[in-house]
Amino acid sequence: MRHAGHFLRLVALVAVAVVGFLFVRSQVVPKDFGVTGHFRLSAIADEGKREARHIGSDACAECHDDIGKSWKTGKHHTPQCENCHGPGLMHTKVVAEESTTAYPDKILKLKNAIKRPTGIQECKWCHLRTFERPSTLKSIANVEAHVSEHKGTFTKDTKCIDCHNPHTTLVTFDAKGLPVKPKIAP
Ligand code: HEC
Ligand code: HEC
Ligand code: HEC
Ligand code: HEC
Repeated sequence: MRHAGHFLRLVALVAVAVVGFLFVRSQVVPKDFGVTGHFRLSAIADEGKREARHIGSDACAECHDDIGKSWKTGKHHTPQCENCHGPGLMHTKVVAEESTTAYPDKILKLKNAIKRPTGIQECKWCHLRTFERPSTLKSIANVEAHVSEHKGTFTKDTKCIDCHNPHTTLVTFDAKGLPVKPKIAP
């Protein structure tokens, strides 16, 4: 029995630690945590209050009506504006704040509000042939081969939009039947 004191002290220490842990836990864990799962129930409402960063192609087309029209009536209406240009909220917010004739300048000053797509990288994401992609989606196996097949000259700077209008996919040809750089808008 000589060591009973040591043992009791150890038990007391563990008891203090456990009670302390339970106390701190009861103070810091939100009351609605774990009600329907391993999360805070009110987090759903909090997330719901956040502003949507995507505004949808119809909203883009309200201002960019020429591009909106050629996109909608063309062969490329499946990928949405924001698939290539990124979320449009910041871009349109500038307009809402500055509803004067000065807004075109203002909107362009917010450089990173809307993406200018690369005209090659995002095309490859969807159109380079891989076994996972649906065979119904028109795809190319190799950029260099595709370009020379269509009488282009492949360099490291070649872009898909050197030949394809990104909004309609259409290729423009000159009198000799060679592809020429298309106008982007519309
Ligand atoms: C309320 C009007 C408005 C809406 C909505 C709007 N834009 Fe714009 N956008 C403008 C104006 C104004 C400019 C600058 C002048 C111009 O290029 O016509 C501009 C410029 C751009 C540019 C060129 C940016 C640059 O760096 O040169 C792109 C790309 C663009 N918009 C895409 C979009 C997309 C995609 C959407 C939808 C997510 C959208 N816009 C929604 C008014 C709008
Ligand atoms: C498949 C990808 C893709 C989609 C979908 C797309 N764009 Fe674009 N957009 C581009 C590319 C690529 C450019 C050219 C970027 C460059 O030349 O630097 C461009 C350029 C633009 C520009 C600038 C035009 C100019 O004269 O400089 C505007 C504005 C624009 N797009 C609006 C839209 C709107 C609105 C939609 C939807 C109705 C849309 N885009 C859908 C890829 C796309
Ligand atoms: C988000 C995916 C996506 C991106 C990014 C994308 N496309 Fe497409 N593209 C599609 C889909 C989907 C179709 C088929 C359209 C349909 O049948 O509705 C298509 C169709 C095409 C076609 C065939 C049109 C025809 O003759 O039927 C060409 C050419 C094309 N895209 C070129 C491009 C180019 C160039 C770019 C880059 C500027 C690009 N695409 C970016 C999804 C994409
Ligand atoms: C040198 C010009 C040129 C370049 C650069 C180019 N294309 Fe094309 N592409 C064409 C031509 C021409 C066609 C045939 C369609 C036509 O005649 O309108 C075509 C057709 C396509 C088709 C449809 C294929 C089918 O089976 O019908 C897709 C998809 C396509 N291109 C994607 C791309 C992508 C993605 C890039 C960039 C990585 C690209 N193209 C770059 C000229 C080009």
